[in-house]
Amino acid sequence: MEVLPKQGAVGAEVIGIDVTKSDAQTVAAIRAAWLKHGVLLFRGQNLTPEGLAAFSAQFGELEPPPASEGGTREELGNQPVWYISNVKENGQAIGSLGNAEAEWHTDMSYLPEPPTTSILFAQEVPPSGGNTSFADMEAALDALDDDLRKAIAHRTVHHDSSTTSVGETRRGHDAVFDVTTAPGASHPALRTHPETGRVSLYLGRRRHAWIEGMAVGESEALLDRLWEHCAEPTFAWEHVWRAGDLVMWDNRRMIHRRDAFDPTTRRIMLRTQLCGDRPFK
Ligand SMILES: [Fe+2]
Repeated sequence: MEVLPKQGAVGAEVIGIDVTKSDAQTVAAIRAAWLKHGVLLFRGQNLTPEGLAAFSAQFGELEPPPASEGGTREELGNQPVWYISNVKENGQAIGSLGNAEAEWHTDMSYLPEPPTTSILFAQEVPPSGGNTSFADMEAALDALDDDLRKAIAHRTVHHDSSTTSVGETRRGHDAVFDVTTAPGASHPALRTHPETGRVSLYLGRRRHAWIEGMAVGESEALLDRLWEHCAEPTFAWEHVWRAGDLVMWDNRRMIHRRDAFDPTTRRIMLRTQLCGDRPFK
């Protein structure tokens, strides 16, 4: 197995490995590379839902799909795996998030203990579109202007749980009109990585966020400035998917977004995540 860092600021490709055959030593090497690079790509993998669950479980305890996510196929059985897809079968979406653009976000930061790790396997991808970008919030914090850093450093951010990254209201939730009363969880705006000790910006997502204790207008203005900074291409790697790609990222450190794609084309991704930990400053 070889680890080739991406040319930009973040990410690496792991080559020479069939992830269904990874032994303990390989898993330890993958884990070390993952902590170092933030996001890893393995190309040319051939994974069933069971295979993806088995690979994922080597890195920690799997979390089952949330009840608020869209339909999952019966064939998944009780696997802790779910679908991100725009495909419909018998008029029913087989997965969540459709074909729309997904804004920059951290997975499920609206939980008290957001997942540490997100893993995505491309089963079927459209001829173009649907690229996923990953951005490093340690690098973003390092490059933040002093005044912005001072303004956010000791703050707590409220992370809204009502709305998905594509702007849909989740099942069982009401639309949010006042960010100060949105459902979700609160976390320090800067978090320390429990394994590496490095500090990153931890903003979750822009939509319905609130910097607690601030007047809404002031919070909105500060969040806009912070997000403008986080979205700078210099912190990011844009991944163009091929079927058989497996990507795993550190959800404590990275944010990600997805481009829209043609709704008449098919995109089927299998996804797992590992149980979380409580963010601390
Ligand atoms: Fe996501």
